[in-house]
Amino acid sequence: MAFVGTLLSIVSALDQPQEMNLAYQVSDSVQTASTLPAEQYTSEKVFEDEVERLFRREWFPVARVDQLPNVGDYLVHDLFGDEIVLMRDQTGNLNAFSNICLHRGCPILAGAGNVEGNHISCPYHKWAYELDGRLRGAPLMEQAEGFITSSNKLQPLALEAWQGWIFLNIDPAAKPLAPRLVELDEKLSSYGFADLRHVKTVTFASPWNWKIMVENFLESYHHMGTHPETLNQAFPAQGTYGEKVRGNYLLLENPSIDPDEIPPFWAGCILPATLFALIRSDNIPYAVWYQLDIKGRGLFELKIHILVHQSIAENVDAIEAITASTTAIHLEDIPMCEGVWKGVNSHFYKPGRLSHLEECLWQFYRYLAIESDQDSHQSSHQDRPGAGAKP
Ligand code: FES
Ligand SMILES: [Fe+2]
Repeated sequence: MAFVGTLLSIVSALDQPQEMNLAYQVSDSVQTASTLPAEQYTSEKVFEDEVERLFRREWFPVARVDQLPNVGDYLVHDLFGDEIVLMRDQTGNLNAFSNICLHRGCPILAGAGNVEGNHISCPYHKWAYELDGRLRGAPLMEQAEGFITSSNKLQPLALEAWQGWIFLNIDPAAKPLAPRLVELDEKLSSYGFADLRHVKTVTFASPWNWKIMVENFLESYHHMGTHPETLNQAFPAQGTYGEKVRGNYLLLENPSIDPDEIPPFWAGCILPATLFALIRSDNIPYAVWYQLDIKGRGLFELKIHILVHQSIAENVDAIEAITASTTAIHLEDIPMCEGVWKGVNSHFYKPGRLSHLEECLWQFYRYLAIESDQDSHQSSHQDRPGAGAKP
């Protein structure tokens, strides 16, 4: 893919041989499991396979519903090389469609905001579109034989609102998201997750492989080494564990050292790369959503979104405090993720053994192994471990 090649030129990575054996074994239990081979992080071929077989088939959230409250609110998002517009139309419905003009392909909108006049128009030759993507007018096209304005529409994308997120899927044959997350839906609903308000986003350029970020998020074994004065004080590494789940997600339980005073928290992943964490008290005060905009095998943009209970949505001091503590934790994680990226690019790297505290990593590897096997893809949503919830 052209965009992959361009972006990969930004980052340094080892040259890869033209042919290599990319298969790897995932053991039957975490007790016998090891980390992934180096090429699963560093190979351009592996990354291109991930784009085609995983990213362009799976669901990714691009916003929270409350980020687009009004008619005409929009947001443009680059979804693995394709620019997508998310738009709220006059009926209040959310629509997702290609940002590529039907005339000569110019992108129509940029960034985020609100369009005036209940329509959008391409800046190049002023073709105009309705807020649901239908072509409304094309000036000076009377002599184009057989051209009928009303029969044209910007390419729509599958969209699903789930737990306050707006998920999109590039695959026109995508299976619905919600039936694969029934169990997680119940868990998050019990904490009012869908009602949390989006109040802040902090962005980090992240020059390492996206899976290193997912792995870091899904184990708290590293609390003792990476967060000794912060997270490990309240949530010591040895008490954490991966939950047995059924559905397209993973969940890491973090019990607190003093349950009467400090509620536990969940760190989770909606597979393959939507990361979230929430404090589990009756009135959930806040949660974080780590959005990974994956650009290449060694680069993604991390957007950490702060989601809060509506009772503190206007409390500037509380939001600043939550943002500061969340950022401080990530600043402790960055050198470790950068270090692992350096490590997997070393000729001396070999897969290392996992701790029992890293069970979610083993579950993640099993998911990747099944999804990367093209022949098994059709049945994988039902068959894979940590996956396969039915409605
Ligand atoms: S490219 Fe959009 S109107 Fe010409
Ligand atoms: Fe961490």
